[in-house]
Amino acid sequence: MPKYIIERNGPLKGEVEISGSKNAVLPIMAASILTSKKCIITEIPKLRDVDVMCQLLKSVGAEVHIDYIKKEISITCDTVSELEAPYELVKQMRASNLIMGPLLARTGKVKIAMPGGCAIGARPIDLHLKGFQALGAEIELEHGYVEARADRLVGDKIYLDFPSVGATENIMMCAVLSEGTTTIENAAEEPEIVDLANFLNSIGGKIKGAGTDTIKIEGVSERELTGTRYTIIPDRIETGTFMVAAAVTRGDLIIKNAIADHVKPVIAKLKECGVEITESDGNIRVTAYNEIKATDIKTLPYPGFPTDMQAQFMTLLTSVNGTSIIIETVFENRYMHIGELNRMGANIKIEGRSAVVSGKQPLEGAQVTATDLRAGAALVLAGLIAEGATEISDIYHIERGYSEFVEKLSKVGAKIKKIDD
Ligand code: UD1
Repeated sequence: MPKYIIERNGPLKGEVEISGSKNAVLPIMAASILTSKKCIITEIPKLRDVDVMCQLLKSVGAEVHIDYIKKEISITCDTVSELEAPYELVKQMRASNLIMGPLLARTGKVKIAMPGGCAIGARPIDLHLKGFQALGAEIELEHGYVEARADRLVGDKIYLDFPSVGATENIMMCAVLSEGTTTIENAAEEPEIVDLANFLNSIGGKIKGAGTDTIKIEGVSERELTGTRYTIIPDRIETGTFMVAAAVTRGDLIIKNAIADHVKPVIAKLKECGVEITESDGNIRVTAYNEIKATDIKTLPYPGFPTDMQAQFMTLLTSVNGTSIIIETVFENRYMHIGELNRMGANIKIEGRSAVVSGKQPLEGAQVTATDLRAGAALVLAGLIAEGATEISDIYHIERGYSEFVEKLSKVGAKIKKIDD
């Protein structure tokens, strides 16, 4: 199994280019099912999750061509067959469920393995299903699979109990081909929702309000939908991760192809800690030569502090003066990295949904395991400042979400290599 070996090598310095957003490209690829015309998506990141989504699209009969050199994917869903997404695929990537909305809308039927529990909590899909039901689908749960069927989909008013990103996206995609108007209230407001709405509008969808808590979708017919050429937004979590990498190594990084507006809470927290941040024309410069102080963090849906940055920020807080408190409110079990960070010498205690981080603990390299994507990134950051070698296993989690991570880190001075054990 491949592993990362990391050794401390001082401050990271130089320029790093951010790739297209994982959480934007996956729903947009799924949304291509809605139209029979060719969709070309550019700025595709090179990720395992993108490969899994390609497999899913091919399994419903889509013609998919991916060119990682040009960072382009072309998807044509001329004819679509009914999908039975097997457990083997859904297990690899929870976002497989994003295929449900568009497929239900296009073929009137979809069957997919229930995602079940995963390392960061139970993550049910009840809100997605409630939305489909409101649009007229019948739902059946049997033998670990969920099946949705509808002869006719009709728009409705749907209130989400929680602004779930996936549920908002799935309902939005399904509603594009439903009759009449669908209104999603208490919708998620993430930039990836706006990117999906822009994509859907570019193929002929009629969506207003994406980026606010109320989204209105006027249904259109399949004949009205066209093809498109669409560019994905930069990945705000990759941006945030490199910002924290600069801070944790007390370095100086220029992060290119970044949208500062999308990482406002990360910028605010880093500034509060004493890190210098300057923004100009799609670049963010992060300089961490001053003393870095402790801070408290509470994760929240956008525009709050992103849960996907919690683990990486925790690594930073192990290295600063003082005690910090982190409260995770989005997922109920997203502290798998704490055991591993403590094995490297950190002093972090869990109290229910809070984690208390006692700072200024010198970290030591150790053999650790990436339990999920962002937990893995937090361990890579810890490896950059730990004394001696850090060996990270189960790195496939990290490769699900970071495009050319080793190459990008090495270019700015990190001592990291991937070995095949
Ligand atoms: C997306 C992101 C993920 C990020 C998360 C929160 C993608 C591919 N993934 O995941 O990186 O961490 O948003 O920002 O975009 N919930 C329910 N019922 C549902 C749906 C969700 O109870 O039907 C709960 C979940 O268990 C979780 C919370 O809502 O506790 C947030 O989940 P959600 O916003 O749906 O996240 P994802 O779309 O899965």
